[in-house]
Amino acid sequence: MKFAVLPAASLFALGASFAAFAQQPAARENWPEGKGKDVVSTVCTGCHEARRFTAGGGYTPDGWQTVLDMMKNIGAPIPPDRFDDVKQYLVANWPEKPKPKPVVIPGDVKVEFRSWPVPTPGSRPHDPLATPDGAIWWSGQSANKLGRLDPKTGEMKEYPLKTPLSGPHGLVDDKDGNIWYAANWAAHVGMLNPKTGEVTEYKMPDPKARDPHTPLFDKGEKNLWFTLQQANMVGRMNMATKEIRLVTMPQARSQPYGMVFDSKGTVWFEEFGGPRLASLDPETMKLTEYTLPNADTRPRRLAITSDDVLWYTDYSRGYLGSYDPKTGKAREWPSPSGPKTQPYGMTALNDVIWYVEGNSKPNLLVRFDPKSEKFQSWEIPTGGGVVRNMMPTRDGKGLAIAESGVNRVGLVEIK
Ligand code: HEC
Repeated sequence: MKFAVLPAASLFALGASFAAFAQQPAARENWPEGKGKDVVSTVCTGCHEARRFTAGGGYTPDGWQTVLDMMKNIGAPIPPDRFDDVKQYLVANWPEKPKPKPVVIPGDVKVEFRSWPVPTPGSRPHDPLATPDGAIWWSGQSANKLGRLDPKTGEMKEYPLKTPLSGPHGLVDDKDGNIWYAANWAAHVGMLNPKTGEVTEYKMPDPKARDPHTPLFDKGEKNLWFTLQQANMVGRMNMATKEIRLVTMPQARSQPYGMVFDSKGTVWFEEFGGPRLASLDPETMKLTEYTLPNADTRPRRLAITSDDVLWYTDYSRGYLGSYDPKTGKAREWPSPSGPKTQPYGMTALNDVIWYVEGNSKPNLLVRFDPKSEKFQSWEIPTGGGVVRNMMPTRDGKGLAIAESGVNRVGLVEIK
């Protein structure tokens, strides 16, 4: 069987190794017999380990359909006449395992959920971007497209990227209305001009810098900053010269992830691979690390309030955490639905924290008011399918969310 060629960068992003592939046939012999086993055991292990789909939480039949749509988009050579066999085999053998039931906490704030399916099936809308014109953009990671939604009319437009399998991840807009993205599978940051559809790519200068993530402009758009999770780096591109400078983390597998600026322009980011936060001097790129109290904490996304207190979702332990660099004090609160809820996408709006429990079924939208230290929460009506990121709309009246596993973008209107 011939496989579509997946760039090394993607394999790297998957953490796959060919040595691991070689060990798999033994494990696969233990799989139950069934129509579709032959295709699954060959096609589905061509790019990543079988563990990628056998060791996780499993999927519902609809969930497997979305996964297969995503894999088809990425180039998995599933013979069309065997598609149903493959789906049935996966559905029968790796059904969705029970997930935490979300705990709804009542309160005074009212929200209204709206959501739109994106045009390309299996897009895996990874990150949302709310722009000043009221539009919501999304990165269609496995469709290799960026998309734009006008929530007033429901009109949507998709923009194809230039390099196949770019794997667009985070998004940010510049003052001219261009949309910048981090090509997580293809080692570049790129700019889409929505007026012309033209895409410009800026390659990473170091072959090790494979997976840029979370692009963010500093004040005045002097630099575009980004983290590189598997490459274990943080980088910035000078917008005048387009020169890219990279810093490697002092400890292996730190996995820099979510990033914010404080009021003084210092860059803060999380280390998903360790229980740490880190800051960077924006001029010298001198790095300082801060260890969080619990060794098992895995901070994923980061938010900041106007008092420069940092807030993080603790993905591995199911907590909301805060860290005040002025006092060095860290605090934490258990997420409403417990330790297995994988808090993920988060943001701050008017000094209130919002985040999503991505493993609760349906996903739970959580509001936390730092003043009263009170939680309020809502089930996301579409299920959410793991909300990996969110951001406030530019009028400050709502939240844009990307619903990766249900192939939708959403808007949460706060009343
Ligand atoms: C052409 C390469 C390729 C093939 C073949 C392939 N995959 Fe994937 N798969 C990927 C990539 C790339 C990702 C995304 C990696 C990431 O973001 O970490 C992925 C991710 C996944 C995920 C995780 C999805 C998620 O949202 O987290 C599952 C499940 C999966 N693949 C199942 C399968 C199955 C089942 C097959 C066989 C039908 C298959 N893959 C074949 C490349 C491939």
